[in-house]
Amino acid sequence: MTAKDIIDTYISFFEERGHKKIENSPLVLQNDPTTLFTSAGMQPLVPYLLGKEHPEGKRLVNVQNCFRAQDIDEVGDNRHTTFFRMLGNWSLGDYFKKEEVSWFWEFLTQKLTIPKERLYITVFKGTNEIPKDEEAEQVWKEIILQEGMNPKERILYYGTKKNWWSRSGVPENMPAGEPGGPDTEVFYRFNIEHNPAFGDVCHPNCDCGRFMEIANSVFMQYVKQENGSFKELPKKNVDFGGGLERLLAAVENMQDVFQTSLFAPIVAGISHAINKPYSEESKEIRIIADHFISACFIAANDVIPSNKEQGYILRRLIRRGLDSFYQLQGGNLSEIIETIVDQYKNTDQILLTKFEHIKNTILAEENSYSQTRRNARKLITRKYPSASHSARVQAEGLGQARIGDELKGQVEISTEDAFVLYTAHGLSPAQIKSLGFLFNEDEFVQKMKEHQQRSKMSGTKKFDRVKEIR
Ligand code: SER
Repeated sequence: MTAKDIIDTYISFFEERGHKKIENSPLVLQNDPTTLFTSAGMQPLVPYLLGKEHPEGKRLVNVQNCFRAQDIDEVGDNRHTTFFRMLGNWSLGDYFKKEEVSWFWEFLTQKLTIPKERLYITVFKGTNEIPKDEEAEQVWKEIILQEGMNPKERILYYGTKKNWWSRSGVPENMPAGEPGGPDTEVFYRFNIEHNPAFGDVCHPNCDCGRFMEIANSVFMQYVKQENGSFKELPKKNVDFGGGLERLLAAVENMQDVFQTSLFAPIVAGISHAINKPYSEESKEIRIIADHFISACFIAANDVIPSNKEQGYILRRLIRRGLDSFYQLQGGNLSEIIETIVDQYKNTDQILLTKFEHIKNTILAEENSYSQTRRNARKLITRKYPSASHSARVQAEGLGQARIGDELKGQVEISTEDAFVLYTAHGLSPAQIKSLGFLFNEDEFVQKMKEHQQRSKMSGTKKFDRVKEIR
């Protein structure tokens, strides 16, 4: 079963149950100043979750492209990606927990034929103000018993950090008027040992990599009030989110999403370009794959690399991807872009129709980054003669110098100069170090904090994003 088969099976399953298929919304939403990118299936549907009538009815199904900048630092492990596709089925004030939970299980175990023994359920345990989700718990208990398994072993309970969903996270962070609710999640257990670095006891949310969340159902049933309390929404909603990449990992019983049939050709292309096996450089290869996949989709949405908003995120993705690519002596970026487009073109036509634009955008940014690094080096070599010597030694040793060839010089520079490279040239601390410039990192962090404070006071949020995306 391929990623495309999972999509097709999912859509037909819910169409057969009275759902209307709606189109994927753009990654950059028009008329939504609250967010830079669509990061969850629910975002384009917020007005309908709050009660507005949807023109296509009360039962909807879709596949939504999502991008989560906040996960960028997690990329490199076996399961985190910044770009992913979310399968979604929606009840806008129509069916609720009984139908949803039963269909959730049926889809996973009957349609995707994931062995039930590998699946574990989590349910919201409640807080002092918001009750435990006993309704979802009850339906799960019946299903688990029918399947001949023990609910005590299969159903686990967590609080607001894990089993509550809203655009702003936990209830305390939600602004008045924001919808949210408890969610129930299904985890897949791989046949690997627990990693004790993540605690004595292995459990679905211990993050050791043995369990992976593959899908959730959010029950959008509350709206936050001005006084901080929660009121039931007049119409209660279901918001199912199934991560396509992770569902595929479960179907293929592959604990590394980057080695599933969706990512394998991309990873092989990168491995070929750097002439090293995936097993030796898996972390960097995952970063390269993830960042350029995201960059392709963001560029396909007509975002151009720049110093603000979506353009800023695109710039950082490409430059971080290049850092890893050149660190591993990667050469031809075009081939990587072509492999990505080839791999996604069956399900995402946009990559094919915008292919030239995507390629030109990313390659132009590669040039611009190269220029930035040359300028940074010039600036430093003017002030520090030893830097000039070290650059020359490297250039002589390596023939024609490319940006990745500059990695080994070690020149100590002042915190002030490092900070100029950061503010005026847009280089992150890691990138400054990769040019071979050493500086006092504690002082640098202190300066960065002061700078962020000043930016906040002057009303610009750009440096918050620097922090967000490093
Ligand atoms: N169910 C979604 C999620 O997990 C919200 O739309 O992100």
